[in-house]
Amino acid sequence: MELIIDSADIQKIKKLNELCTVSGVTTNPSILTKSGREAMDVIHDLLAILSDDQKLFIQVVKTDYEGIMEEAERIAALRPKNMYVKIPVTHDGLKAIKECKKRGIHTLATAIYSAEQGFLAACNGADYLAPYVNRMCNYGDGVQTTKDLIEMLKVNGLPTKVVAASFKNTYQVHELIKAGIQAVTVPCDVLFNMINHPATTIAVGEFTMDWQRAYQRNQLFP
Ligand code: E4P
Repeated sequence: MELIIDSADIQKIKKLNELCTVSGVTTNPSILTKSGREAMDVIHDLLAILSDDQKLFIQVVKTDYEGIMEEAERIAALRPKNMYVKIPVTHDGLKAIKECKKRGIHTLATAIYSAEQGFLAACNGADYLAPYVNRMCNYGDGVQTTKDLIEMLKVNGLPTKVVAASFKNTYQVHELIKAGIQAVTVPCDVLFNMINHPATTIAVGEFTMDWQRAYQRNQLFP
């Protein structure tokens, strides 16, 4: 399974990239604006901190077909490999995903709110589908809809991967990893919550205390 970070916070991405085995970074226009900096500067920072083998996903801002295609070409040209264009599954977006497939531009179909939308984007040749798990919970069961999408791709033999997105808690991530999802993109706060547990800190404190009491040193070797 691919673990992807859903953020443009350079410091937190650097930290999590050290702690975890990270396949890449996803952003969207809202995420990029949160930095308070010029988006292109943030994108260049992301390009600098990721290794060639890690994927970067940048979303188009234009919403008309011609505009999406123009931005898709420019995003794809930012990097020789592992560059993905995020395209929302609107009418113009679906058409653009189909055209990107013909031109050899890698895409992630985003803003997916139903399994049907995702399935159709997969038929158009999207490399990844991003169902919005938490946002879908406003309309039903986002986790179950994502599981349905995984099943639809499987029974139809489609190679498109699902990268579940829009997580708000560790439970949602847990359920989808358990279901065998191919990828998750997780915001930094949720990922830190997956790593941290207060009982782990307490356990380590107890080990150190017992050791010091017995041997009057804080290292294994004398
Ligand atoms: C990632 O690809 C999506 O754009 C992102 O997960 C959406 O998250 P949000 O629902 O927190 O905005």
